[in-house]
Amino acid sequence: METLEGMKRTHHCGELRKDAVGAEITLCGWVSRRRDHGGLIFIDMRDRSGLVQVVFDESAMGDAFHKAETLRSEFCIAVRGKVRGRSEDTVNPNMETGEIEVVCEELRILNGAKTPPIEIQDGITTDEMVRMKYRYLDLRRPEMQRALILRHRVTKLMRDYFDREGFLEIETPMLCKSTPEGARDFLVPSRLNPGEFYALPQSPQIFKQILMVSGFEKYFQIVRCFRDEDLRADRQPEFTQLDIETSFLSQEEILQLTEDMIVELFDKAIGAKIEQPFLRMTWDEAMRRFGSDKPDMRFGMELMDISEYVGGSDFKVFNSVLESGGQIKVINVEGYADIPRRELDGLVKYVQGYGAKGLAWIQYTEEGVKSPFKKFYSDETFEKIKEATGAKTGDLLLVVGDKPLVVAQALGELRLEMARRRGLIDEDKLAFLWVVDFPMFEYSEEEKRWKAMHHPFTSPRHEDIQYLKSDPGRVKADAYDMVLNGVEIGGGSLRIYNADLQEQVFEALGLTPEQAHAKFGFMLDAFQYGTPPHGGLAFGLDRLVMLMAKRKSIRDVIAFPKNQSASDVMSQAPSPVDDKQLRELSIRTVVKAKESK
Ligand code: AMO
Ligand code: AMP
Repeated sequence: METLEGMKRTHHCGELRKDAVGAEITLCGWVSRRRDHGGLIFIDMRDRSGLVQVVFDESAMGDAFHKAETLRSEFCIAVRGKVRGRSEDTVNPNMETGEIEVVCEELRILNGAKTPPIEIQDGITTDEMVRMKYRYLDLRRPEMQRALILRHRVTKLMRDYFDREGFLEIETPMLCKSTPEGARDFLVPSRLNPGEFYALPQSPQIFKQILMVSGFEKYFQIVRCFRDEDLRADRQPEFTQLDIETSFLSQEEILQLTEDMIVELFDKAIGAKIEQPFLRMTWDEAMRRFGSDKPDMRFGMELMDISEYVGGSDFKVFNSVLESGGQIKVINVEGYADIPRRELDGLVKYVQGYGAKGLAWIQYTEEGVKSPFKKFYSDETFEKIKEATGAKTGDLLLVVGDKPLVVAQALGELRLEMARRRGLIDEDKLAFLWVVDFPMFEYSEEEKRWKAMHHPFTSPRHEDIQYLKSDPGRVKADAYDMVLNGVEIGGGSLRIYNADLQEQVFEALGLTPEQAHAKFGFMLDAFQYGTPPHGGLAFGLDRLVMLMAKRKSIRDVIAFPKNQSASDVMSQAPSPVDDKQLRELSIRTVVKAKESK
């Protein structure tokens, strides 16, 4: 192998243009593609900035040419040579550097490479597990590099923005106290305190509030958070937040500040001009019209209630739904009355996956109405429904009857699925939305108790405090989410800053004063010392960058993500540890370690 001794990189591959013709340059990078034409070898040479064609010409290089013959994909090389314009018929319009090429005068092979198990190029369809195992090669692919470069730019812009606005970035601990509520904690055993555990932070929520008590007024942090949840395309066990907290600002001012930040970010990072103000919608309205607290506003297909037209008939299914306080709602899939029966059967399964008991439909065809409940209603009723929903001949109404939350969930998901299938989503659109006035609590059927919908430090709306005890389900909170294209990219709230009110909320959550003090005593104590009114929010950095980079998964914008079973496929974490390590931690496991993965 050779060294770089006496050679110094002067340029980057992807930046060379016509104006460099004639220049003597030195490049460092990797062999991307190689074509051997006998006495002439062409390679595409790649570095972080892009690709350029390098030519090795036997007639000019003499013996040194034989070295070029040994080049293979992903060899790491340095090339000294001259930039030459390409003749018109050899210009490559698909390459940014396609108007020039570099004629090699000296080649150094800095390192060889085994044949890579994945192709180093954009748009590969290789199984993601393989990509993750060879992450170091996957990350050589230009689209992965672009995503991480974008991520860097985004965090830089965030820091610039908040610095300019007078915010301080303050670090908070990674080894924290485990507190109830929220998702499941990742625990870390304490060697020095046998039998005791730290928790990794699900967010810096309590610390940032304490920083407000301490008088920092404007805090932000780009910070790793940990949640032991089931994983999805937009969920990782460790992810990054842009976390923000402020004192003395109103909800309106917080929304404005962060909306302006997002607009600046999209402009400066990807050149997207976003209109302000963002659309705003209450949680109630979002659930009613879209069946979701994070509606995708790039298309319509809103949920509509037809309960009033279908009640009181001989159709038992709808009657029993309505009698038990449920509702019958529809979405209109325009122009799809001729949906194949097989697809309809599939949709029944689809909504059942989201808790609905069944799915019905009304097809307004040229030959008349087709519907599984046609015989229970008059033609007039179907006409009325058609009018009320604005359906036209040729349209398909999909119908779900159930409790309101089940209808919302099932039809909300069906709305997204049908929009995907019918190609209604404009991938170039950026549809921002604030969802406001979230409920304070949601009822957990599993635990048979009320849980905080955002978190227990969120302030109930002043006028609803009176219902904390008598009717928790009615209490709305000063909580808000920012939604982009149907993804929750951020969320936050105004906080409770009064220890009494905080205790009342803990009580509504079923925590006795003793339990509350055992878990959050330090916070309640802190709140006794002149706590300022405060509030904030946190953005999911991974999700934000995913949407900016137009990727489908946050795994594509994280250098070393975990797979669906929360494993790092490359380094094979998590893994068993030595008995000695466990003994030091006073820990004994009750499962036998997996032999190998
Ligand atoms: P919340 O729990 O809503 O709020 O989180 C804020 C944002 O973080 C992102 N996010 C995630 N991203 C990837 N993987 C995950 N597992 C994951 N979980 C959440 C989302 C979400 O909107 N402390 C509060 C904020 C506050 O009140 O100030 C909090 O953590 O984009
Ligand atoms: P069943 O009595 O369960 O066979 O249902 C009769 C028809 O009612 C089914 O074919 C469905 O089209 C419709 N249906 C059943 N349950 C629901 C529901 N929850 N919402 C809408 N339609 C339903």
